Amino acid sequence: MKKSYRFSTLCITLAINGCTSDFKPDSSASGEQIFQAACAECHQPLDENVPDVLFELHPKNMNAGFVKHKIYTGSIRMPKFPNIKGSKMHSLSTYVLAHSISK
Ligand code: HEC
Repeated sequence: MKKSYRFSTLCITLAINGCTSDFKPDSSASGEQIFQAACAECHQPLDENVPDVLFELHPKNMNAGFVKHKIYTGSIRMPKFPNIKGSKMHSLSTYVLAHSISK
């Protein structure tokens, strides 16, 4: 519950700003580095004793298409990241999927 509260506080601010992040990854950044820089402020491991698991995704969402779409378009509570693209988007979505379990 604590985590969802943190989400909503952050995104009240973000909603005012249009919920678009201008984050731009370094050309040499790995998927993990991008995640730490752009995503970890909101997405922490689900269980602190299992630091490798960041997401629990619906089986139909356990694929790069879903993850990339989510990052590129965001949602009401998650900013969109239009500057993460190409090989950076690919390495980030690979990192996310490698750290996700299916519901
Ligand atoms: C300001 C907070 C915030 C940031 C920053 C953020 N997210 Fe999110 N994200 C959320 C919230 C809240 C949800 C759940 C609600 C929703 O789907 O809109 C979510 C949902 C997701 C989901 C779908 C999870 C599911 O259960 O279907 C993925 C994947 C995801 N985020 C990846 C990322 C990645 C990768 C980044 C970094 C590029 C990122 N998020 C940055 C707040 C954030």
